Amino acid sequence: MSGDLAKVLGYIDANEKTFIANLKGAVEIANVSAWKDSRPECMRMVEYAVSKLKVLNFTHEIRDVGMQKMEDGSSIPLPPVIFATLGNDPAKKTLMIYGHLDVQPAKMSDGWSYEPFTLTEDGPNLYGRGSTDDKGPVLGWLHAIEAYQKNGLPVPVNIKMVLESMEECGSEGLEELLEKEKNGFLKGVDLVTISDNYWLGTEKPCLTYGLRGLCYMHVEIECGTKDLHSGVFGGAVEEAMPDLIWMLNQLIDQKGQILIPGIMDSVAPLDEDEKKLYQEVDFCPNEFKSDAGVRSLRCPGNKEATLMNRWRYPSLSIHGIEGAFADPGSKTVIPRKVIGKFSVRLVPNQDPVEIEKLINKYLNDKWTERGSNNKMTVLPGHLGKPWMAKYNHPNYQAAAKATELIYKVKPQYTREGGSIPITLTFQELTGRNVLLLPMGQSDDGAHSQNEKISKRNYILGTKVFAAYLHEVSLLDKKDL
Ligand code: BES
Ligand code: ZN
Repeated sequence: MSGDLAKVLGYIDANEKTFIANLKGAVEIANVSAWKDSRPECMRMVEYAVSKLKVLNFTHEIRDVGMQKMEDGSSIPLPPVIFATLGNDPAKKTLMIYGHLDVQPAKMSDGWSYEPFTLTEDGPNLYGRGSTDDKGPVLGWLHAIEAYQKNGLPVPVNIKMVLESMEECGSEGLEELLEKEKNGFLKGVDLVTISDNYWLGTEKPCLTYGLRGLCYMHVEIECGTKDLHSGVFGGAVEEAMPDLIWMLNQLIDQKGQILIPGIMDSVAPLDEDEKKLYQEVDFCPNEFKSDAGVRSLRCPGNKEATLMNRWRYPSLSIHGIEGAFADPGSKTVIPRKVIGKFSVRLVPNQDPVEIEKLINKYLNDKWTERGSNNKMTVLPGHLGKPWMAKYNHPNYQAAAKATELIYKVKPQYTREGGSIPITLTFQELTGRNVLLLPMGQSDDGAHSQNEKISKRNYILGTKVFAAYLHEVSLLDKKDL
């Protein structure tokens, strides 16, 4: 290791307390993109990020991405996207880093043991919404850069950052913005890195080369103009709720097979080489089951099948019913309108628009079969394409070296079942390799109660980022 890099890594160790305090500041801002009332918090978070970027001498632009159309027909402004730039030395490589500032909803009453918007240190972990998804990793990048500067060292690569605040709601407006910037802000990028996923387990670091896409759908059923008393109207009217439950029940069987005809037709075939990859992955389905806290897996004890079901086959999940009575206790109501929400995770080579058409047709056919006199409408939600990258690329090699230097083990190569809608857009618009370099681990509980990042991953992850910047600077531009 070079003496300079050793100094950088030493700075990161020495500043653990400050880095934790910075994360505390970020977690305190409850910028939940799904809560429309928290838009002022989204602006506060943008300001928080800008204040950190300024200290590091980044120049920045705040880019407006227009209005968000709400389901009731009203519109509210989307939070802006930050474009930030540090350095433009033609002799250096230019790295694009993407991250998201927004977080998932969280309430103490959901069953948290810690205040979700107060970063709480408990033993080895830092608990709080956004700690691992994605405020911790975003700060990790900024701290890695700070570590070079505070040692009086040049940051070894030019950096461009895109920080958005709507990722958890499908990155509305971002794709259009980036398309316009193909020959603008995105020009001259050599490599792209995103730290917005997790290790496959709790021991081994990972580099990730695949994500599933998403097709989110709403199915709305309306039976009248107002909610009714079930004692007065029950038995005499055709209710919306049984129709919706019947419709949702047509989507997936008890074994988890998706019932939509044609949905498996476009799934990339599995060849022998790919099959082998799953055998080699270090993953314990029983540990996965116990982390998830579920009673059963679809393929108990089967490592390969469990991984394939997460990474290379589509899955359908039913998320909720809007308009249905969901509070504790009992209420004798007949809801006038209910909206079922479900999504399909998409895999190579599925196209979200084609899958949406299949789902639409299937739901309409089923509705005819149901023969109800109520009104059924299928509404598409957000769509995102799956993504795969070449993992034998120098970008991955640089990340592997950095990871091994810090964690003293070789990383494993993984895919993910989740989605980061903008990943493929970066790959297509820049024509460059995209790497997912996770900071957190499998049991961090992103989107769940008691989301956390361990202090170890937060600090060692920051060191991996710093070492990766150094490794990228050593790559030959013509190989990229
Ligand atoms: N960090 C996740 C993406 C992710 C999830 C990576 C699981 C690896 C495993 C990201 O913040 C996220 O949750 N994305 C949404 C996107 C959706 C709203 C389009 C997701 O996957 O549900
Ligand atoms: Zn995320």
